[in-house]
Amino acid sequence: MNLIFLGPPGAGKGTQAARLSEEFSIPQISTGDILREARKNKTPLGQKAESFMVQGQLVPDEVVIGIVEERLRESDCQNGFILDGFPRTTAQADALGQMLLSLGRQINQVISFSVDDAAIISRLSGRRVCSDCGASFHVEFSPTTVDGVCDKCGGKTYQRKDDQAETIKERLDVYKKQTQPLIDYYSNLGALISVEGQGSVDDVLNASKALCHLRRDFS
Ligand code: AP5
Repeated sequence: MNLIFLGPPGAGKGTQAARLSEEFSIPQISTGDILREARKNKTPLGQKAESFMVQGQLVPDEVVIGIVEERLRESDCQNGFILDGFPRTTAQADALGQMLLSLGRQINQVISFSVDDAAIISRLSGRRVCSDCGASFHVEFSPTTVDGVCDKCGGKTYQRKDDQAETIKERLDVYKKQTQPLIDYYSNLGALISVEGQGSVDDVLNASKALCHLRRDFS
C-alpha cells in the first residue's frame, strides 16, 4: 500500500501517519522529520534547510526530491510507505510520478485531510514535540502526563520554532498557494480521497482506515 497524506500544516498528517504506519507495518516518510533531524545534527542538508523552515517557506524542490528518491529505494519501503508532507508542489508531484515509474510502483491512494484555519492555529500553537523521539503532543488535546516530559521515552518536549503565530500564518499561505493545487492534481488522476480531519484522532483514524481498506480491495 503506497499512500500520500496531503493537508495543511497541523491537519494531523503526522499523527495519523504514525498510527497507520503501525497498523499496516509500512514506514512513515516525513520530509519535515528528516529535515528537522538534519538541522538538529547540523548536517549540510540541515544547514541548507534551516532558513526556509524557520520562515515557514518550502525547502527547494531539488533538495526534498533528492531526499525522497533516496528513501524510497530503502528495503523497508518494499511493501509500501506513507508519504507525510511530500509532495508539496506540482514539481515534486511530477518528480514522484517519475520516481515511482522507474521503480515499477504506483500510488494507491492520496488522502487529503481537511481542517479549518482556526483549528489549525489552535493545534499548532499548542503542539509540543519530543526532542529525542519526535513524538507529538498537544497541551490541551493530548497532553503529556508530566509537563514537558515525553510519555513515550522520557525526553524533553519543546515547541517547534515554526509553530509561532506569525510563522503559522506564513505556512498556511504557502500551503494555499503551493500545495493546495495538488488536491486537483490527484483528483484528476482519480487517486484522491478526502477525510474530514476535524474529529477526534480516533475518528479520523477510523475514517482513514476504512477508506484505505476499501481502496485496497480494488488496487
Ligand atoms: P512538516 O513537518 O511537514 O510540517 P507541516 O506539513 O506544516 O505539518 P505539521 O507537522 O505542522 O502538521 P501535521 O499535519 O503533521 O499535524 P500533526 O499530526 O503534527 O514541514 C515543516 C517544514 O519543513 C515546512 O514548513 C518546510 O519548510 C519543510 N518541508 C517539509 N516537507 C517539505 C517538502 N515536501 N517540500 C518543501 N519543504 C518541505 O498535528 C498537529 C497538532 O495537532 C499536534 O499537537 C497533534 O497532537 C494535534 N492533533 C492532531 N490530530 C488532532 C485531532 N484529530 N484533534 C485534535 N488535535 C489533533
